[in-house]
Amino acid sequence: MLDAKCWVMPIGLVMAMLVTQAGCGGGKAPVSPTTPAPPPGTSGMQAEPLRDAARASGKLVGAAVQSSLLSDGRYAGVLGRHFNYLTAEFEMKWDAIERTRDSNNFAAGDAIVAFGQANGMQIKGHALIWHGSVPAWLPALPAADFRAAFEAHIRSVGEHFRGRVIAWDVVNEAIADDGPGLRDTVFRQKLGDQYIADAFRLARQADPQALLFYNDYGGEGLSAKSDRIFSLVQGLRAQGVPIDGVGLQMHVNATSAPSDANIAANMRRLAALGLFVNISEMDVRIRDVPGTTPTRLDVQKSVYHSIVGVCAAEPRCDAVTFWGFTDAYSWIDAQYGADDPLIFDEQYAVKPAYYGVLDALWRR
Ligand code: XIL
Repeated sequence: MLDAKCWVMPIGLVMAMLVTQAGCGGGKAPVSPTTPAPPPGTSGMQAEPLRDAARASGKLVGAAVQSSLLSDGRYAGVLGRHFNYLTAEFEMKWDAIERTRDSNNFAAGDAIVAFGQANGMQIKGHALIWHGSVPAWLPALPAADFRAAFEAHIRSVGEHFRGRVIAWDVVNEAIADDGPGLRDTVFRQKLGDQYIADAFRLARQADPQALLFYNDYGGEGLSAKSDRIFSLVQGLRAQGVPIDGVGLQMHVNATSAPSDANIAANMRRLAALGLFVNISEMDVRIRDVPGTTPTRLDVQKSVYHSIVGVCAAEPRCDAVTFWGFTDAYSWIDAQYGADDPLIFDEQYAVKPAYYGVLDALWRR
């Protein structure tokens, strides 16, 4: 088994070689928490591996990745050095896998799994049912045919990745942003509110070992939306639906991030239902933070430190995943405008945010 902590091969080489190689550091002991932090701007390939600190606090530390970038040595190098949990940014979504009906293409998802396995990482599948990744051919189907496609999708994708992923985001963003009840998606229109429970049951049948999560945004702290998420999952548990946890996306703006006390209280009430919780897609926007760049980066560091610290302190929080890891590749730029929301800069050097995460994982 490759000791990924030490060195990493771009996917092309992994697929070609899958050979074990003596680690670069030769069994280097994890760095102790008192080691002074090297100066900002340190290359990600020299910085202390986040995955060591995560292991010390019993958590997984993850990143969303793009399969097309895994052959980039710097991308693969920093990814493998620091992270032990991978999520496909879009390669395991319905519209990416089944562009035309009954023709699943798993190549990109398989490449991400192979990279993860070659680097000693766990994988989370994302996302089986999401209104934001519906294949073009699906909405036009009559209800009965729609249900057949829905069931076939969850079954075929769940079975394909069975034993190679440890968790799935089964249903993503089903709660309405404002106003009661569920988001009015094509799934609800065609299958009724029952589609959520059905999706979890089908996912459990397809992969009995995988942890099954409900994933959403805007419900990270205590709020009207997180109350609706809470009552949804509480109801599913009460019905005996096989749900194991809730993912809090945590796409936050540094100027309005929920307080760590608020997030902690929300995680605690979900944990009290017997659920796991995780931070599933964290990034921190700073373009609206007034002041100089160093000021913005320091504010960002403290937001990462306090929020990751909440997960580190919550026994039922199993993982922290960032939605990307280098500012070179972030969906935020297209979605909210150019920003630097992640923990490594565009040259893969560590940012102050990296130290916020490192310290939080070391619980300091
Ligand atoms: C986003 C990806 O980052 C983009 O590249 C893609 O174009 C759209 O989806 N919530 C989710 C993620 O659950 O799957 C989304 O990812 C971001 C918001």
